[in-house]
Amino acid sequence: MTKLAVVSGGGTGIGAAIACGLIGDGFEVVVIGRRPGPLEEIKGAQAIAADLREPGEVERVREALAGRAIDVLVNNAGGYVTRDGDGLGAVAANWRATFDINVITAVLLTEALLPQLSRPGGRVLLFSSIAAQRGGGGPYGAAKAALHGWVMELAAQLGPQGITANVIAPGYVIDTEFFKGRMTPEGHQARVDATLVGQPGTPDDIWQAVRWLAGPGGGWVTGQIIGVNGGSVLGR
Ligand SMILES: NC(=O)c1ccc[n+]([C@@H]2O[C@H](COP(=O)([O-])OP(=O)(O)OC[C@H]3O[C@@H](n4cnc5c(N)ncnc54)[C@H](OP(=O)(O)O)[C@@H]3O)[C@@H](O)[C@H]2O)c1
Repeated sequence: MTKLAVVSGGGTGIGAAIACGLIGDGFEVVVIGRRPGPLEEIKGAQAIAADLREPGEVERVREALAGRAIDVLVNNAGGYVTRDGDGLGAVAANWRATFDINVITAVLLTEALLPQLSRPGGRVLLFSSIAAQRGGGGPYGAAKAALHGWVMELAAQLGPQGITANVIAPGYVIDTEFFKGRMTPEGHQARVDATLVGQPGTPDDIWQAVRWLAGPGGGWVTGQIIGVNGGSVLGR
């Protein structure tokens, strides 16, 4: 039977590579994001436009997928939020918005779809960042680190039902919208120089890690933080 995968943020960058890779491996794929345009570019996927920070929108996703067994849930949606101002109000708004986009999106989608995960055999992936392991980005690294704590809880809860839960923590990955308008040639070079392999990551590098964890070889891996970073951070 064809397996079903749900990929949040599946219209661009890393999520698009994951969605296309899963389709290539024979999965039925559902991609979710706020903008319909990028989602519709993923040929062969079912697109659901939704803002995953909003419980009502996630309910709509759940209704659209009602009755379907989900084999792989990739919580890839996330991003960097720029602070708008200097006062405490701006600080609070920036931290809240950063947690909303990087933590609440994954928590709501996972909670909504948990009952539909295949038992046994389901796979849940959360998307963190190297920033959670070495700092960087202010609230961004802190928000991503929240997923590290949560995955332990999820893995313990779901393990007895035959479901794994892991975090992927990418390093510097090019060809995505993540750094749109924020990257300089110097910033790019510094990040490449920080790797041991002397090159930036690509969305395909991250897809290959997802392919392992979502595939038959990943079944005995759970509760882990998997760094995919070219050696920029070691052994954490
Ligand atoms: N690129 C890197 O160097 C890097 C490094 C470490 C970690 N990461 C993480 O990897 C993941 C993928 O990032 P990327 O580099 O591929 O960047 P990206 O191209 O900006 O992808 C992020 C995706 O998330 C979606 N998204 C954002 N907010 C959403 C929301 N509220 N509801 C639904 N979808 C939402 C976006 O679509 P819409 O805007 O249409 O909603 C977009 O498709 C992110 O979690 C990011 O933090 C990236």
